[in-house]
Amino acid sequence: MIWIIDFGSQYTQLIIRKSRKIGFNPELMVYEEFCERLKTSKPDAIILSGGPSSVYEDTNNYDSLFKLKVPVLGICYGMQVMAHFFGGVVQKGELGEYGKSTVQSFSDLPDKIDVWMSHFDIVEKVPDLFEVVYISENKIIAGMESKEKKLLALQFHPEVNETDKGEEIFEYFYTEVASLQKNWNQQSRLDICKESFNIVKDDEFVLCGFSGGVDSLVAAQIAHQCVRNRLVCVYIDHGLMRPQDEKHIQLLSKSLDLEILKIDSSQVFLNRLVGVSDPEGKRKTMGKTFVEEFERIVKKIENKKKISFKYLLQGTLFPDVIESISPHKKNGKSVTIKSHHNVGGLPEKMNLSLIEPLRYMFKDEVREIGVEIGLEKKWVFRHPFPGPGLGVRILGALDNESILATKKSDQILYEELIRNDLYDDIWQAFTVFLPIKTVGVKGDERAYENVVCIRMVNSIDGMTAKWSKVSLSFLDKVSSRITNEVKGITRVVYDITSKPPGTIEWE
Ligand code: XMP
Repeated sequence: MIWIIDFGSQYTQLIIRKSRKIGFNPELMVYEEFCERLKTSKPDAIILSGGPSSVYEDTNNYDSLFKLKVPVLGICYGMQVMAHFFGGVVQKGELGEYGKSTVQSFSDLPDKIDVWMSHFDIVEKVPDLFEVVYISENKIIAGMESKEKKLLALQFHPEVNETDKGEEIFEYFYTEVASLQKNWNQQSRLDICKESFNIVKDDEFVLCGFSGGVDSLVAAQIAHQCVRNRLVCVYIDHGLMRPQDEKHIQLLSKSLDLEILKIDSSQVFLNRLVGVSDPEGKRKTMGKTFVEEFERIVKKIENKKKISFKYLLQGTLFPDVIESISPHKKNGKSVTIKSHHNVGGLPEKMNLSLIEPLRYMFKDEVREIGVEIGLEKKWVFRHPFPGPGLGVRILGALDNESILATKKSDQILYEELIRNDLYDDIWQAFTVFLPIKTVGVKGDERAYENVVCIRMVNSIDGMTAKWSKVSLSFLDKVSSRITNEVKGITRVVYDITSKPPGTIEWE
């Protein structure tokens, strides 16, 4: 058992990712939960994450933590907590260090590596029994170790990709300092997912809200392996899906043993959306309609099949779970940028118990599991597509022309990405319909028509993103096809905004 105490760093999730890559599977908890769990169990090692506080504002005394005498790795704020506890000197740095730095090692740890720093306070003097193991190029103490106490601490972040040899550093802590054996591999990941279905009895039915996206697809396929034909997947078409989605669902229905019920609710959705132009209004209308349609359809299936569902299967991923336990989220209010997951956020009053087999997995792991259980690579590496679909890619109120233009332009972009072998290099790519008119000339005629914007980004998790630097000839090809083939569009623009400050979707 390896426990990570989350002090609120934005990088904490990455500690788990890096650890799993090298065969260890730590658990994440906030300090209060750690103290609670100590009453009944004891970890084999502890990692203290970074965090925004200063040790002088922190009211915890960490007695119960360090008196356990188990190996501890302190990262950034975690190093300062350790240094402070054992009598070292932690001071406000004059400049702080943010971004890349280089560190020199005085021990067996990787030497002369580029690392990622993000701190203000510094350890000015290490406690007795500790040795300095890293110094940064600014002559700041960047690492310390007490071999006797099995304690290691780093001022920089070995968990982020910008730090060289981060995996070697974690490996050193787990195997050299803590003497732990590797116990996390592909098989254990799948076993954990399957364990979620142990509660389902032989005569109980599972319902899945199925979009065909990677998360619900992988969750449904695992469920099918566990409960076989007691799984029913419901796919609700809200009329704002792309041509590629329609084909994809048909293909999945044909290729897999899953029972996928396709429900065409497009008229219901589109009627409700008439005249709704505010982005949040659109999301909320779609979310509410989705829940109502879902409930209606489920009742119909239950009556027809003479069954009642006991469980609701959802493809919730680890980052969503972590969001809700982060110390930031607990104490502070986070601002709603967009009401995500409204569509697909299923009804609470249905009285179904939730099964979330992917709740301990990251997106890249879900994709690997998908391939491992026999799903085609191209299905699990599809670009993400938001629940409200094209509803948030047509700015303002929707009408038939704008929906058609968006579907067609998106299909052109998709075809060209595949033709030019670019689809897998890009994290997400789509077109956006802008309800403004500009003057153009088509043939010898004056045109006064709408604008389509191409949006393509590269990202790891969608939290931040960079606009994709594709070739001008590619943009040229897509632009000329859209203006030639899509009715009502005379102008195409390319979005060169990263996130932040822009979001990936336009609404
Ligand atoms: P933003 O636009 O917030 O998007 O930068 C980040 C990622 O989330 C997707 N997205 C959504 N996914 N329901 C979803 O399931 C939503 O309401 C939603 N809004 C945005 C977006 O496509 C991108 O991958």
